[in-house]
Amino acid sequence: MPTIHQVAERAGVSSTTVSHVINNTRFVSPETRERVLRAMEELNYRPNILARSLRRGETRTLGLILPDSANPFFAEIARALEFAAFRAGYNVIFGNSENDLEKEQVYIDVLVTKQVDGLIFVATGDRSQSLENLVRGGLPVVVVDRQLSALEVDTVLTDNLQGGLLATRYLLSRGHRRIGCITGPSHLTPSAQRVIGYRQALQEAGVAVDEDLIVRGDFHPRSGYEAGKVLLEQRPLPTAIFACNDMMAIGALRALAEAGLRVPEDCSIVGYDDIELATYAVPPLTTIRQDKIAIAEAALRMALERINQSDLPARCETLPVELVERQSVRRIA
Ligand code: RIB
Repeated sequence: MPTIHQVAERAGVSSTTVSHVINNTRFVSPETRERVLRAMEELNYRPNILARSLRRGETRTLGLILPDSANPFFAEIARALEFAAFRAGYNVIFGNSENDLEKEQVYIDVLVTKQVDGLIFVATGDRSQSLENLVRGGLPVVVVDRQLSALEVDTVLTDNLQGGLLATRYLLSRGHRRIGCITGPSHLTPSAQRVIGYRQALQEAGVAVDEDLIVRGDFHPRSGYEAGKVLLEQRPLPTAIFACNDMMAIGALRALAEAGLRVPEDCSIVGYDDIELATYAVPPLTTIRQDKIAIAEAALRMALERINQSDLPARCETLPVELVERQSVRRIA
């Protein structure tokens, strides 16, 4: 295995200069950098990343655990986070917990073993003993999207109550009064808060909440399809549906189509998340935008700040949401 000294000798520089080229720890002229990189290539030299990590006590690697990599909302967050982290000189190791607490624990253990410098994490449940131990043990952790009630930890949320209010007020302003709601998993705070916003908007407008128009989903498209069929059994029919994420809204679109109902002519629909797919649904979905790039950049910023200053007080940042009007809602009065 060639050594750093052999690279230095071949490039005609000191070993220190080779180290600066590898670690980007000091300016090296382009000519010298080129000589060093060429020598490394010719000798097939590979820096000992583990040795560097142990020496510095850092791996410049972040762990990311998400609950459902098949959901574009999380995929778009992962993409934005990896892009921002790479620009900041960090790699990202990603784990998919599949909303399973045991699998989530496996990934927490794996990422700790790999000595990530920080962990960014969308929780499967409301608490995680091992996560509490990690936070108390000093690992920089940022919780995203779902708040952990019993833990003082850096957190990035969005204003889910406001999102439910915006979606429902918008439908009310278009004359809708029989508004169905397809919820996400009720134990997850984002969905629970959106439904509270839905109820609050109806109450503000003096519209009685019909519990038969609130149907449970699980954030996956199939549950939106099934819930859509349940809503279409209600009489009088709802004239609009608020789905607590875009994937369920897309599932509901299929239920409406199978029932021979046109959107928005026969039934309007509003989603939530504003995933890229919402733009290409037929018709393009009116939805509530969660800014996934802003979420990822806020989580990264918090993680890097804590890596560099471990005694910061825990912070919680709640990002705003906005209504994105497209073509899936019709005014009926
Ligand atoms: O679409 C997935 C949902 O789970 C998003 O709305 C996000 O807020 C998360 O809670």
